[in-house]
Amino acid sequence: MATPRVLQTNRLPASATAYLRAHAEVEVNESGDPLPPQELRRRAAAHDGVVCLLTDRFDAQLIGALPTGFKVIANVAVGYDNIDVAAASSRGIMVTNTPGVLTETTADLAWALLMAAARRLVEADRYVRAGRFRRWELMDFLGCDVHGATLGIIGMGRIGQAVARRARGFAMRLIYHNRRPLPAPLEQELAASYVPLETLLGEADFISLHVPLTPQTHHLIGMPELRRMKPTACLINTARGPVVDEAALVIALRDGCLGAAALDVYEREPALSPGLAELPQTVLLPHLGSASRRTRERMARMAAENCVAALRGERPPNLVNPEAFRG
Ligand code: GLV
Repeated sequence: MATPRVLQTNRLPASATAYLRAHAEVEVNESGDPLPPQELRRRAAAHDGVVCLLTDRFDAQLIGALPTGFKVIANVAVGYDNIDVAAASSRGIMVTNTPGVLTETTADLAWALLMAAARRLVEADRYVRAGRFRRWELMDFLGCDVHGATLGIIGMGRIGQAVARRARGFAMRLIYHNRRPLPAPLEQELAASYVPLETLLGEADFISLHVPLTPQTHHLIGMPELRRMKPTACLINTARGPVVDEAALVIALRDGCLGAAALDVYEREPALSPGLAELPQTVLLPHLGSASRRTRERMARMAAENCVAALRGERPPNLVNPEAFRG
């Protein structure tokens, strides 16, 4: 069998590229920038599989242009809304992701955002750096208590549950909303109560989003939902930007419908909605959820292994569309 050819659309940790090179002829885009769509299409056409990032968009048009026999799109991310999976399946192209390895790291970051927003860390840090810290003031930078507050988790999959587990140390009341309630023993273990979305929005002090981006979750949090929140509530988004109507969020924060927003992801990433960056009650990160060295290395290696398995005709361990596997 001829050596398979893989396009690696961006730089990856060396161990992942080395693994790919041990099993395939590999072309690497070393530029550090995502390939423009036309270039991605042109280069992918000369390969049998691709290892890509969430910044690479594989829409139906691009997938339709991939050569016959193209086998796999291996995403270095757990989310795969950048890939039209139905289009890939219809062409027999396998799609893989990297679940599990980033769960705890992403949950850590959701908590970092929660704490930063609650205690106004970013504002306070700017204040100190600007040389404005002249004396201790009783009533400066007052924030919200995290301990004893109510945490509302929307989307109780792996990452939502990992966020929930951390709430115990803060003696929080935990409510959640999900497509369906968790099994009772798991609910008990997490000390979490299932509630309708409207109840969660009205009762939570901190609302953390952990749903995948799908047509059903697009703008799940829009103006009506923002208006239901407590005026002191804090919204945390480490999921995907388009789950929140960002323009509505800016208006809602300005109008005092909610107290703060701590965001790792944006609706038109990397662009921010006008006004968002000017609001002092926002904490804004550049999509860092899984960004620990160890986790990013594990994600890249996992994607490389998925890719190689698919090229060998094996079922990749993290196959998103089993219907595309012709074993
Ligand atoms: C990151 O956002 C991921 O989906 O892994």
